[in-house]
Amino acid sequence: MLRTHTCGELNITHVGQSVILCGWLQKSRDLGGMTFIDLRDRYGITQLAFNMDTNAELCEKARKLGREYVLSITGNVAERSNKNAKIPTGDIEIIVENIDVLNKSKTPPFTIEDQSDGGDELRMKYRYLDLRRNPVRKNIELRHKMSIETRNYLNGLNFVEIETPFLIKSTPEGARDFVVPSRMNEGEFYALPQSPQTFKQLLMVSGYDRYFQIVRCFRDEDLRADRQPEFTQIDCEMSFVTQDDVLNTFEGLTKHLFKVVRNVDVPAFPRMTYAHAMKFYGSDKPDTRFEMKFVELNDVAKGKDFKVFDDAELVVGICANGCSEYTRKQLDELTDFVKRPQIGANGLVYVKFNLDGTVKSSVDKFFNEESLKKIGEKFDAKAGDLILIMAGATEKAQRQLSELRLEMGERLGLRDPNVFSPLWVVDFPLLEWDEESQRFFAKHHPFTSPKTEDIDLLETNPGAVCANAYDLVINGVEVSGGSIRIFNRDLQNRMFKILGFSEEEAKKQFGFLLDAFEYGAPPHGGIAFGFDRLCSLFGGSESIRDYIAFPKNNAGRDVMIDAPSTISSAQLEELRLVTKI
Ligand code: AMO
Repeated sequence: MLRTHTCGELNITHVGQSVILCGWLQKSRDLGGMTFIDLRDRYGITQLAFNMDTNAELCEKARKLGREYVLSITGNVAERSNKNAKIPTGDIEIIVENIDVLNKSKTPPFTIEDQSDGGDELRMKYRYLDLRRNPVRKNIELRHKMSIETRNYLNGLNFVEIETPFLIKSTPEGARDFVVPSRMNEGEFYALPQSPQTFKQLLMVSGYDRYFQIVRCFRDEDLRADRQPEFTQIDCEMSFVTQDDVLNTFEGLTKHLFKVVRNVDVPAFPRMTYAHAMKFYGSDKPDTRFEMKFVELNDVAKGKDFKVFDDAELVVGICANGCSEYTRKQLDELTDFVKRPQIGANGLVYVKFNLDGTVKSSVDKFFNEESLKKIGEKFDAKAGDLILIMAGATEKAQRQLSELRLEMGERLGLRDPNVFSPLWVVDFPLLEWDEESQRFFAKHHPFTSPKTEDIDLLETNPGAVCANAYDLVINGVEVSGGSIRIFNRDLQNRMFKILGFSEEEAKKQFGFLLDAFEYGAPPHGGIAFGFDRLCSLFGGSESIRDYIAFPKNNAGRDVMIDAPSTISSAQLEELRLVTKI
């Protein structure tokens, strides 16, 4: 080893010892007679001291060193006169006897400190420098701990980690595939897996009754703070299980991670049906850190000659406690918020239950005090409360009010990142109707089994069929999703038919799975966690990028290596993607 200690471990007990440290020059301060350098490595910062009176030559040398130079120093640990209680090494400093410059550094394009002066793009371009900063390093270390703990926990439950291929076959369901041309098979393409779904099911047919994999998945979809084109799943599958068995097993894993990584004990996760989540939170991933539940108002809101309500399929509201004093400006801000194109509402109705007992609304023209009080009663509103109401087609109004609910939760400080509120959302519909293509899509994926009691409805009323599918939601984030699977060829064929596949297409796309179902497929089910999302939630951030060592930007680009990029015409020709002229 080139060093005796790290920059994070020396303290008062080491005083008098001769040590060798290696690290990066974070900062230097020249105080005339004395020069101080902060030497940094992964473990911390140690102060180096140089005295002009006792070693002028070395002091001069130290003053010439630039930021981020890589140094090896030899010296003696001494007690500091000016202690720094903020860092673990703050009681000591090193009286340096020798410096070796192991490598020079250009001045970095941004400061490598907890609060950097570099913007997002710049830090992405020099991600290897950004990764030196404490907040980023902590995130990467948190991720490491999460993956090690996941492996240990699942290993303890007899799960086997098995790798599945990355060069697979393109499938039409789900997101868009990233495809890879095959040089050896002209005109043919592999696809990168959106998830190892079919492989883990095949592993169940093979008898590996508890499988997991911490695995990269690839989806060519529009990016957001919680989406990357390549992301990681903790992918799991089990045989001979019911939905309860899967939920209990992975509730156990999640609780274990909360305990060992965050030292939080979370009580048993409540279970909520999809229908309940939509009705009371307008979302299948409700943030249950706060209440502010939806109240449907059709019976008290309609019939007052207010066209917006009268024409609406659903009139629905929330009650923000203690917000009756909101000013005109604050209410306008909320209206602008719901009118943003991402939310797309036409407007927002409010009813204020003022502290002086009066009631005031934006629809006073249509609603007298008595009618407004009727609305208030639905919410159990008290003086000081503000009711916010939206109206329209059911799903649209629910989605819009759900966004407003989250915004109000944010404004009222009800979304503390250090509070965790997990829940299982269960009983999802099996299918989702798509207006544009006039067909059903699988809400989860085509391999999800319908609830046994609903199988008879598959052909007659497909929209009403419930699935054995579940999501784990924590603080409004869909952390994981899974289902009990179909394991019978006939039922799988019926499902493909409902999804609009001809028998031939189904065979071409998924013949391997259908065939496997005829060789003793056990009943099975599983789940996949969005590992990046789980890490960012544990770390208290909204962006999964902060937890990925080398992420892509919002345009799907890696600005550091400059990918994607064009390839040479020779490569194109070799892949037969262009013909030689
Ligand atoms: P699903 O498509 O729900 O299920 O994905 C599982 C979890 O992966 C995370 N996730 C993402 N994270 C980051 N970026 C993305 N682009 C992205 N897309 C999804 C989410 C999600 O809950 N094979 C099934 C699982 C199963 O049925 O067992 C599947 O992939 O947190």
